[in-house]
Amino acid sequence: MDTKKPKQQKKHAGVMRGRFSGRIGYVLAVAGSAVGLGNIWRFPYLAAKYGGGIFLLVYLILTVTFGYVLIVSETTLGRMTKKSPVGAFHAFGKRLPFHFGGWINAVVPMLIVPYYCVIGGWVLKYLFEYLRGSAGILAKDGYFTEFMTSSGSVLFWFVLFSSLVFFVILAGVRQGVERVSKIMMPVLVVLAVFVAVYSVTRPGAFEGVKYFLIPKFEDFSWLTVVAAMGQMFYSLSIAMGILYTYGSYIGKEVDIEKSTIQVEFFDAAIAFLAGLMIIPAVFAFSGGDMETLQAGPSLTFITLPKIFASMGVGTIAGVAFFLMFLFAALTSAISLLETSVSTLEDELHVSRPKGCLIMCAVMLVIGSLSSLGYGALDFVSIFGMAFLDFFDFMTNSVMMPLAALATCMLIIRVVGFDKMDAEIECSSAFRRKKLYHFFLRYLAPVCIAIILVSSIANVLGIISL
Ligand code: PFF
Repeated sequence: MDTKKPKQQKKHAGVMRGRFSGRIGYVLAVAGSAVGLGNIWRFPYLAAKYGGGIFLLVYLILTVTFGYVLIVSETTLGRMTKKSPVGAFHAFGKRLPFHFGGWINAVVPMLIVPYYCVIGGWVLKYLFEYLRGSAGILAKDGYFTEFMTSSGSVLFWFVLFSSLVFFVILAGVRQGVERVSKIMMPVLVVLAVFVAVYSVTRPGAFEGVKYFLIPKFEDFSWLTVVAAMGQMFYSLSIAMGILYTYGSYIGKEVDIEKSTIQVEFFDAAIAFLAGLMIIPAVFAFSGGDMETLQAGPSLTFITLPKIFASMGVGTIAGVAFFLMFLFAALTSAISLLETSVSTLEDELHVSRPKGCLIMCAVMLVIGSLSSLGYGALDFVSIFGMAFLDFFDFMTNSVMMPLAALATCMLIIRVVGFDKMDAEIECSSAFRRKKLYHFFLRYLAPVCIAIILVSSIANVLGIISL
């Protein structure tokens, strides 16, 4: 789900900028952008793949340290400059590093939205099948693989989902969709709690609960850290320019620190719930075999139908769940596309329809490659990855760390901590000031270095992610 449309318009620095109605509006908008496929689809499969409990632990530690620093930094820079990322960097200088910093933050959503829509297409397809009463068929072993390899079908659902996203943006019904999604999200949470309780109480599921909740230190590897870090970026909508933009909409009275903690709590809670839904079910329905745990992007789509089918009310549960899931995916995709189009409008001075057309072309190219990567184009692999995995890897493990590095460097080298502190202290005391300085100066660059070096090592085949 996604953004709360800024309420009043305020003229600032010659640009009409929207404003959130206050902290609650801002928190809802950011939490809305944060909660999406990342929580329900991406988190469970990564947790299953990278050691369960140890992944959860590393993820949570990273969220409250590194994630916290980045959310506070991006939001504060957005509010200070009243600009989206490219403009925010330009507010401090016009040389090459500033162009790079701004643009790398702005380009990431443009590369994510196409493959985000491919997964959105999978959700749409499953919803359609549930509506047709195919609950039993969806739960069969091998169904998802068959679907993924039938290129035409994947492409069709990708195009349909993307058309829905474009339609919402062009027809100006975005607010309507988001209003519906505000009702859908709480329902999704209630449903997820229900499914999670059902899932963890299945015979054999307890092993899965243990796998997910109890960290085993022998399962720890750098890959756990790298995967958790990429997921943290993705899930919290960090290093994609979005928080700069949202920050530019808030007033000086908003307590950035407090809002950040609330957003992180909300986002982690939903991911945690999704993990509880899926991972124990893998143990209950597939005996927790390594192969299923390693299933990757398909895990949620393989496991959920099995849970629903065993409930005996597969069709109703499936329709309800995938409908909510669709709304969460749709509104997140809308905000990714909207961000991309406005960057093109503002920075390349193209009209809105032209911006949409450019994004349409980008989506067609990257989205089609991602759709066909497991089917007709499965003979092509880039550094050992199918297209979708490659785009996901490039954005999360290479570009987002670079974008985050640019933000850290901007603060350390140019803006300075005094200015950041003053901006944050506009609304309230900055309680974690010392931690913030320490994390930003030392922890963040180390984390970024780890993720970048590992990613390059992976590409060169030295390690395998
Ligand atoms: N954080 C979203 C998710 O976890 O699915 C992805 C996302 C949506 C990122 C919208 C950025 C954004 F603007």
